[in-house]
Amino acid sequence: MNTDYFKLLQEIDSIVTSGATLGEILQNTCKLLKTKVYHYDWVGFYILEERTLNLVLGPFYGKPTEHTIIPIGKGVCGQVAKNKKLKTVQNVCLESNYIACSIDVQSEIVVPILKDGKFVAEIDIDSHSVAPFTVEDENFLTSVCQKLSGLF
Ligand code: SME
Repeated sequence: MNTDYFKLLQEIDSIVTSGATLGEILQNTCKLLKTKVYHYDWVGFYILEERTLNLVLGPFYGKPTEHTIIPIGKGVCGQVAKNKKLKTVQNVCLESNYIACSIDVQSEIVVPILKDGKFVAEIDIDSHSVAPFTVEDENFLTSVCQKLSGLF
């Protein structure tokens, strides 16, 4: 399945500059990514709550998850918040620090959103395929997070 990542980045630019609220922008981004990229089966944002230092589920597109609050360091999401580095898990069965959401999920990529070098939020994508993510996904999602970072 060919994905035109360049075109998608242009669509992200339109969403970011649309004048919508932060919540709407994040929601529209989730919907765009989930519907336009074949191997993205669940797309959501976790946002750092400064007061508790927990990750709180923000807008998402896909099935509801019971993991609405994740402590820093826990699961793939918590590791990315702690290390401020993108993490790709090509096979979730091989990841010991993983929080399972659904038995359908085989792989996951989490990309941090940094503002002035500080972690503020992250984009979390689950896939029902094993090892679907390439360096192209990593570069693409890093660009998406850079475009969103100015909104926080
Ligand atoms: N699998 C994640 C938890 C969040 S759900 O995928 C929506 C993790 O290990 O942090």
